[in-house]
Amino acid sequence: MLVLLLGTCLILVSWTSLTPYEKQPKGKKTFDRVCSPCHGEDAKGIPSFSPALSRSKIVLGPASKLIRVLLRGSDELKTEPGHNNKYKNSMPAHANLKDRRIANLLTYIRNNFENKAPAIIAEEVKLVREKL
Ligand code: HEC
Repeated sequence: MLVLLLGTCLILVSWTSLTPYEKQPKGKKTFDRVCSPCHGEDAKGIPSFSPALSRSKIVLGPASKLIRVLLRGSDELKTEPGHNNKYKNSMPAHANLKDRRIANLLTYIRNNFENKAPAIIAEEVKLVREKL
């Protein structure tokens, strides 16, 4: 009887550690928690509130610019064409996130939501951060 009970516990434990949540691609969790409240679960943005990250020129453009937007938020977008006071909301700086986490997050966004662009690695984030 005890063996059976232990067996059931073991199966339960291994099942919970294999839940789909853990198998999500790197960066998805951060996107869902930190970015999607403003940019939308589908990254399509919210009209006059926050821009879409889907098919965004900045997301698909040079890695260094995208990293700077993440680290500095709206400060980095002030001079960007089409951004001046267009949105009621502003983009917060996310410099508190670790290099690797930013790299995984941006790589995830660059390869989902109808986007396709090269991955970003933690070393690139580190270099951009040093030059801010
Ligand atoms: C509080 C709301 C908010 C949160 C949270 C937020 N953003 Fe933003 N984001 C904005 C707004 C508003 C803009 C436009 C800002 C501007 O023009 O000054 C923006 C702009 C951007 C842009 C430029 C897009 C373009 O094409 O113009 C990128 C890239 C971006 N955000 C990525 C992210 C990522 C990645 C996260 C999660 C770490 C995130 N944002 C979290 C509100 C937010």
